[in-house]
Amino acid sequence: MEINKSKVLIVGGTGYVGRRIVKASLQQGHETYVLQRRELGLYDIEKVQMLLSFKRLGARLVEASFSDHRSLVEAVRLADVVVCAMSGVPFRSHNILLQLKLVDAIKEAGNVKRFLPSEFGMDAGRMGHALAPGRITFDDKVTVRKAIEEARIPYTYVSANCFAGYFIGGLCDFNSLTPPKGKVHLYGDGNVKAIFVDEDDVGTYTIKAIDDPRTLNKTLYLRPSDNILSQRQLVEMYESLSGKRVETVLIPEKDFLASMAGLDYIGQIGVGHYYHIFYEGSLTNFEIGAGGVEASELYPEVRYTRMDDYMKQYL
Ligand SMILES: NC(=O)c1ccc[n+]([C@@H]2O[C@H](COP(=O)([O-])OP(=O)(O)OC[C@H]3O[C@@H](n4cnc5c(N)ncnc54)[C@H](OP(=O)(O)O)[C@@H]3O)[C@@H](O)[C@H]2O)c1
Repeated sequence: MEINKSKVLIVGGTGYVGRRIVKASLQQGHETYVLQRRELGLYDIEKVQMLLSFKRLGARLVEASFSDHRSLVEAVRLADVVVCAMSGVPFRSHNILLQLKLVDAIKEAGNVKRFLPSEFGMDAGRMGHALAPGRITFDDKVTVRKAIEEARIPYTYVSANCFAGYFIGGLCDFNSLTPPKGKVHLYGDGNVKAIFVDEDDVGTYTIKAIDDPRTLNKTLYLRPSDNILSQRQLVEMYESLSGKRVETVLIPEKDFLASMAGLDYIGQIGVGHYYHIFYEGSLTNFEIGAGGVEASELYPEVRYTRMDDYMKQYL
């Protein structure tokens, strides 16, 4: 543990991205606290086991509950920095607004030098035009941002773009996490650029940012230059790695949007998000302005995972 490094509390630490943030915090030498929810019961055996594995790696577990304000205040008082990885993927669970309770606790505790709320996707602040019902992701994240800024809590918002695990194996196919068995649907002409980041790198960059004055009250965009790729480039990458030819079918924009009509709520959210990424180009169609900084420029020492290496796992 390094004395000049901040103490970190991670909320949502057993989650899909939260567990990478816990590991990065430990690896980077921070005194690391992980919130252990009092509500965990028999069905949560895997979470409890994971919490114990964090403890073995040197983390300290802190019991608290979102239903008990005092317990949250006490947990927050242990740390200089709070990182929250609360769920926000509706097909798993979506509890972004629960973080308002954490904001209240941070406000009352008064000691927190930096709060990183659960963002880790598209820049919610740029998605005011997003399609319903998927816009709930962005609207709720913006509500949390407003509460943070009104409470004058110092913050960093991490815009992590596309988690590789969701997109690379299935070559961005909406319904698949693993390589295609048949034809691959290309969104539009397949040439819109998106950005893909290994989830472990999301953890690494997030923790790198927490003590950095350059990221204070800014959005940290993860845009590693080799990982800015179109869907077509991913298909070509797969063809070259696997030696297999992939047959593609183009889905025109209007057909993709029309497909929403036959889907349930969760499916409609997915179509909306994919529409913004792969037709509109929402990850890459803007320059990072004064309110933002780019992670691979700030931390060139991080050897981030390239997507050809990531893809090799699936062969
Ligand atoms: N860019 C991308 O491609 C991408 C993909 C997926 C997610 N994301 C974003 O990443 C963030 C985290 O998502 P995730 O998929 O990692 O989340 P997740 O694994 O579904 O859940 C994260 C954690 O949320 C906590 N949680 C869930 N329900 C709760 C409740 N009722 N009360 C208190 N805590 C609760 C749990 O924390 P405990 O550890 O305490 O149980 C859980 O482990 C979200 O903002 C999401 O939008 C981005």
